[in-house]
Amino acid sequence: MDYIITDNYETMSELAASYVIDLVNMKPDATIYFPTGGSTELMYELLVKANRDGRIDFSQVKARNLDEYFGLSSEHEASYRYFLNKRLFEHCNFRSCNIKTIKGNALNIEAEIAEYQEMINNDEIDLIIDGIGENGHIGFNEPSNSLNLYTHLEKLSASTIAANARFFDRISDVPECAITMGIADILKANIIMIISSGIKKSDVWLELNNKTVSTMLPASFLKLAKKITVILDKESAMKL
Ligand code: F6R
Repeated sequence: MDYIITDNYETMSELAASYVIDLVNMKPDATIYFPTGGSTELMYELLVKANRDGRIDFSQVKARNLDEYFGLSSEHEASYRYFLNKRLFEHCNFRSCNIKTIKGNALNIEAEIAEYQEMINNDEIDLIIDGIGENGHIGFNEPSNSLNLYTHLEKLSASTIAANARFFDRISDVPECAITMGIADILKANIIMIISSGIKKSDVWLELNNKTVSTMLPASFLKLAKKITVILDKESAMKL
């Protein structure tokens, strides 16, 4: 994997936002899978600003997400749909009929997963944007002896629950499971863009820097992507 190393979080976010702006200007009806998480916050702010300034038009973009906490509704402040509503969707000219995200509180979760999978199968995915977990997860595909290829319910690892507790009042409020796209779903994208910021991610990039893939390091499967752009800030890249 080739890395673009930027001076700081601000430059990482500017580069990531420009990448999305260029892609949508080239293909106005692009299908994009959007992530959540601390790494993405400024990128979204910059995309909202670009939309207001007329530098990106989301009216034809098909927007999806990669993952969602099991059991949380879109009104729950820690749900991924809520995050995307507040940081991106509500401030831009997306058309609601073009937005489809995973319903974490669906009454029939099996049916929800099957429906989401069918959409993924039918999508030509132009771009998936994602961050990376401190333990090397992508989406919510956690390190394990085997990885799921397709959309599924995943049990979250203790380290992910600890890392994400900052978005909840108490660590005990973090759901134990999440629904996530699988590894094959992610690799289906024509382009994957990974952004990573901060020293907490530096060990994972060191581990990823060898020439193997391992289910114990799900992000290593990104080496099989059709096209990948990795944007790191200096702190994330410090052990490379
Ligand atoms: C979120 C997602 C996760 C995050 C990862 C990093 O939709 O897919 O893989 O990208 O957990 O999160 P932050 O940016 O909060 O460190």
